[in-house]
Amino acid sequence: MRLQQITLEGFGPWRAPTTIDLSGNDLIAMVGFNGSGKSSILDGVLWSLYGQVRAGGANGWISVGSDMCRVQVQLQLADGTQLQVERLRTASGKSSLMVQQRDHPDQDWAQIGDGSIGGGQTAIEQAVGASLELLLATSWLSQGDAARFSQASAAQRRQVLAEMLSLDWTGLATAARQKAQALTAALERQEINLAHWEAQATQTGSTQQQLATEQQQLTQAEQAMEQAQQQAVAVQDVQAAQTQWDRWAQSMQNGTAALTKYQARADQAQAGLQTAQRQAAAAPLPDEQRDKYLGRRSRHVTVHTTPSIETRLTEWAAHIAGARARQADLDERLGALRTLSEQCPLCLQGLSPDLCAKLVTETETERHQIQTQIEFWRHRQTQDQHRSTVVHNGLDQIETELRAQAQAQHRHELAQAALGTAQQELANAEQVKDDTTQRLELLRQQEPSKPDAHGFDLQQIQRNLTNAQQTHSSHLVALGRLQQQLEAAQHAQRQADQARPELQTARQRLEAVRLVARAASPSEVPTRIIESVLPALEDRTNFWLDKMSNGTMSLQLITERARSTGKGDTIPTLELMVAYQGSERPYATFSGGEKLKLDLACRLGIGALLAARAGAPIRTLIIDEGWGALDQDGINALIEALQALQDSFELIITVTHVPAVAAAFPARLEISRDGAGSTAQLIEEAA
Ligand SMILES: Nc1ncnc2c1ncn2[C@@H]1O[C@H](COP(=O)(O)OP(=O)(O)O)[C@@H](O)[C@H]1O
Ligand SMILES: [Mg+2]
Repeated sequence: MRLQQITLEGFGPWRAPTTIDLSGNDLIAMVGFNGSGKSSILDGVLWSLYGQVRAGGANGWISVGSDMCRVQVQLQLADGTQLQVERLRTASGKSSLMVQQRDHPDQDWAQIGDGSIGGGQTAIEQAVGASLELLLATSWLSQGDAARFSQASAAQRRQVLAEMLSLDWTGLATAARQKAQALTAALERQEINLAHWEAQATQTGSTQQQLATEQQQLTQAEQAMEQAQQQAVAVQDVQAAQTQWDRWAQSMQNGTAALTKYQARADQAQAGLQTAQRQAAAAPLPDEQRDKYLGRRSRHVTVHTTPSIETRLTEWAAHIAGARARQADLDERLGALRTLSEQCPLCLQGLSPDLCAKLVTETETERHQIQTQIEFWRHRQTQDQHRSTVVHNGLDQIETELRAQAQAQHRHELAQAALGTAQQELANAEQVKDDTTQRLELLRQQEPSKPDAHGFDLQQIQRNLTNAQQTHSSHLVALGRLQQQLEAAQHAQRQADQARPELQTARQRLEAVRLVARAASPSEVPTRIIESVLPALEDRTNFWLDKMSNGTMSLQLITERARSTGKGDTIPTLELMVAYQGSERPYATFSGGEKLKLDLACRLGIGALLAARAGAPIRTLIIDEGWGALDQDGINALIEALQALQDSFELIITVTHVPAVAAAFPARLEISRDGAGSTAQLIEEAA
């Protein structure tokens, strides 16, 4: 890839949107004071392409005072197409990535990738042909990076090379050693387990013997228990029969008592019947006179109420009273006639004595006749009164007779009722007695056989049973324990059988891991790989060195040296021997400018190795070294070297804050910074 255009906005010191066009120049010196923002441009490119910066999170890169950062990069790819990447991130953490491609500058950009950040990232890495790590290792040299390999001591150089070639296997070696330790510990544990299981498994035989013995004893105990149980059952049967008989005897006793009671009740009822019979005899049915009395009474009543007597008596009284009243009138007239003779008491006319005497005679006659009449009536009245009295007396007598007869009738009925009740009671009592007698007879017939509990010691039998049960269960427990023991021994046997091959596999695995640990140690595989790549490294370094030194220098990598013992044996090393002007000298003996070329050549050689391995050619070279310590010899050497490399790269950018270095380049990107942020100015010298 070749960088063509960079636009930065809100990225570190690049606050205002700034576009830097690199398309017209192939060798550019980026110049500016420390902190002016040079490295930030390169960081911006890496962030845009990979979303990562060399240090600090992306948020830290948002310019102070900005709420987002954005870097757009345009690249020319190896196949001639152009790629445009724009990454944006806001302070609130939102990110976006736009990846576009076009075949020709006249065409419109077309999005590639699936629009997602992950998809865009994959598209970029495919287009660029390198991961961030590969890019940094091959074409992006930062401070101190160029001289790291060449300036390392001979003893450390292999290690540095291994790191630069990503051949650092210390991690693998450490992991393998740790794994081996863990496996060893597990193996030891498993071996202890195996020994334990094997020891346990040896008990199988003896446990089986014990089991057989115990089984026999259990069988005996079972028999003893069964016997005791049978005895206990027999006793229980006897007890049940006894209980049944006792219950029957109790029922018999109750029945007999009831019968006695009902007999007494029947006797009592019999006596009651006799009493009632006596009372009934004493109250016979009254005679048949009653109708006669009733007839007589009716006749008497008829007589009594016949008008003749009563009416007559009333008439007699009224006649007598009337006659008496007439007598009284006559007596009064007589008295008046005898005392008041000269005047008529009625007409107050004077009466003559004759008249008066005549009147007296007439009055007395009348009075006498009336008296006779009264005598007659009185006689008849007395006769009728006598008759009335006779009738009344007869009636009273009949009433008395009738009342006596009614009382006798009542007594007779009561006695008959009492007799009926007594007969009923007697019948009931007899019935109950008969029933009870029948039931008792039935019960007597049902008498159960009386058990013979004689000779049983129930408590002893119970004790025997308990003892037999205890013995039996203790044998059962022992048997269970032995079975468990046997199972455990057999289980241990199985575990041991299973563990042995596993253990074998684990031992083999441990061996393999130990082998990996040994192989990964610096002196083994990495060394061999390095040995194998050294000729290629020498070749590629010499390719660049030849260009930079115009064919005057060549490098030889010395990989071993003789031991000081003088016995002719060797130890590994990695020394740089440089052939120059007809003689060979170690790297250390060269000047600063010469070393600079050697450093760059070695670094480019390593980069070329990596690029070849990844299949990605290096087309842009970025050297962010600063070059602050170079003397004039060094500056000249650098310029010579870079100019010599110019044909091999499409774009070379070197960063420096030394104006003298910059002045030597035909194109300079001058970076300056003020309060508002960084600015860039491209200065091209007319050819
Ligand atoms: N988020 C930021 N906002 C503003 N300035 C920043 C931010 N991050 C880094 N800087 C400043 O930008 C400068 C980084 O410059 P740098 O590109 O490394 O300089 P040089 O030109 O020496 O390579 C430093 O002064 C650093 O403090
Ligand atoms: Mg810098």
